[in-house]
Amino acid sequence: DIRISADTIRRRKGGTPIVCLTAYTYPIARLLDDHVDLLLVGDSVAMVLHGHKTTLGASLEMMIAHGQAVMRGSAKACVVVDMPAGSYEESAAQAVASARRIVDETGCQAVKLEGGVDMAHQIAAIVAAGIPVMGHIGLLPQSVEKDGGYRIKGRTDENVAALFGDAQAVESAGAFSVVIEGTVETVAADITRRIAIPTIGIGASGDCDGQILVIDDMVGLTVDRVAKFVKEYADLRSVISRAAEHYAAEVRSRTFPGPDHVFSATKRGDDA
Ligand code: KIV
Ligand code: NA
Repeated sequence: DIRISADTIRRRKGGTPIVCLTAYTYPIARLLDDHVDLLLVGDSVAMVLHGHKTTLGASLEMMIAHGQAVMRGSAKACVVVDMPAGSYEESAAQAVASARRIVDETGCQAVKLEGGVDMAHQIAAIVAAGIPVMGHIGLLPQSVEKDGGYRIKGRTDENVAALFGDAQAVESAGAFSVVIEGTVETVAADITRRIAIPTIGIGASGDCDGQILVIDDMVGLTVDRVAKFVKEYADLRSVISRAAEHYAAEVRSRTFPGPDHVFSATKRGDDA
């Protein structure tokens, strides 16, 4: 297998930064595979592609369908699939059963779940079942309704202590890496120095062992407001709007289809 394994990602602690992006579809996986180390099929797919208000709209079936698409479109990247809310929190047995379904039905390299101390039992059980787990601490999108909104973590002493506890719990439970989201920069940097597994930052710190962004945010395709931590490397909103505007004008003026896009009665060897 030429794919980057979870274990290879783990061994890159402290080395060249680990490049991660989300991917949800076959074409995007094809385009990103040459450039990244890791593709995350994030439960953000529920918001980004399906228009749900929060990630709670993701289901196991949705994650598996997108996981399959991303596996078909990639050959080299380590593919990690998010465990959706409601698929793992109840018990270790529930978590193992859901993780096994995701891996068996997609062939992905690892799963990711949200939580630290409170989910250590689930992480340990999935790892014991032979499935690599990526942790996710700090701002947890599956808990934003409970938390009363998107709140940056690590701004109070109590908060900082809880974050270190979560990072250590995830590491001790056997996770191969951990996403740190929406966390004060110095705290994310300190956690990175204190644990032996790679930290993957999003709205965290440039000192993390890797970085991740949501692909649609990164290419300027997100139509709703984007978070402060997003950098837009392209403006696909404008590209698509301009293309649609141009197409609409050409259809209305009967400029499209032109001679190149229709078929003559005699086959000329350029048929589709
Ligand atoms: O679902 C997602 O996109 C994520 C990343 C932002 C880490 O969990
Ligand atoms: Na997620």
